[in-house]
Amino acid sequence: MNLPDFFGLDIGNHSIKVVQVKRKSETQASLVALGSSETPFGVIGSENEQHKKELAENIKSLLESADIGTKKVVAALPESAIFTRLAVFPDLVDKELEDAIHWEAKQYIPLPLENVNLEWLKVGERQEAGQKKNEILLVAAPKTLVDSYTQLASLAGLELIALETETVATTRAITFKQKMEETAMILDFGANGTDMSVIKGKNPIFSQTLGTGSDALTKAISLDFGLDVQQAEQYKRTYGLDQTKVDGKIFKSLDPIMQVIVSEITKTLNFFRAHFQANSPKKIYIVGDGAILIGLPEYLSSKLGLLTERFDPLSNLEKDKKVEESLKSVSGIGYTVAVGLALKAE
Ligand SMILES: Nc1ncnc2c1ncn2[C@@H]1O[C@H](COP(=O)(O)OP(=O)(O)OP(=O)(O)O)[C@@H](O)[C@H]1O
Ligand SMILES: [Mg+2]
Repeated sequence: MNLPDFFGLDIGNHSIKVVQVKRKSETQASLVALGSSETPFGVIGSENEQHKKELAENIKSLLESADIGTKKVVAALPESAIFTRLAVFPDLVDKELEDAIHWEAKQYIPLPLENVNLEWLKVGERQEAGQKKNEILLVAAPKTLVDSYTQLASLAGLELIALETETVATTRAITFKQKMEETAMILDFGANGTDMSVIKGKNPIFSQTLGTGSDALTKAISLDFGLDVQQAEQYKRTYGLDQTKVDGKIFKSLDPIMQVIVSEITKTLNFFRAHFQANSPKKIYIVGDGAILIGLPEYLSSKLGLLTERFDPLSNLEKDKKVEESLKSVSGIGYTVAVGLALKAE
């Protein structure tokens, strides 16, 4: 199936990002347009009609300023609202497998199954006691969430052609040029949370949202030093996790929050080592604007014992001179979800 021209839309708690690309082949694409705007305060997840309109208007003006040339859109569902689970099933025929998946889904999804869109994806197989077993990733999105995106698209005068989870989009952005020979972990540092996922080959095989994001770091600085949020944000961006600056004071303020994040990541790594040894992550990629934090790759590498690198999704895209010029002051790392959506091919 070939998709028509469309753009990718990532609505975050902190910023809204849009990206349009032209796909030339399976591993080649050129960047057509991109842009971001600050998310209006209080509109995310709000059922208030005025808030919905405000968000729709914000998206409309962003499309204009970013010069996006199509009304067709693929959007990302926030990972924090999605339920995913990697489970092992016997090698059953289709109907029996479907029943087994529904039974499993019922156990872990805290919503009635008729209220979610449930999808599944085979991501691997293994032998257990001489029997073939399938590793299957279950993904469930609440129908109310899907409805709210449909409504938002129509308020913004857009045609929604697909919805995906943030993790699916990020995985596509990262594996567009490279097939992951070894399992990798991806951490998306957003404002309100950190999305943690594990990818293998071209598929996500695990995802979970940690309730601590980069804004929690700003808050720690603000509380420790009695600074307002803007000033604290500036300190965070200037010194980050650099222990050699200002007597390591900012580092000391951020370290306890970072340790919370590190301990959650460690739990996941240990889970994989114990139950999915063959799939345990060998490397970490960090994305999201929160990943710009100075010293973050080094900090995570040393605490987790795994090589940690920033990933720039724009580095895999071709750009003409005009686009290249417009990117001079842009950090690509926050656009990973939007680029992944824009690269969708079927
Ligand atoms: N230069 C920087 N250094 C450190 N942190 C930064 C920098 N620039 C932005 N951030 C932080 O990144 C966070 C926003 O990241 P991003 O735009 O990816 O979030 P979002 O996708 O809108 O949020 P979410 O994923 O939680 O919905 C904010 O907490 C912001 O303070
Ligand atoms: Mg985000």
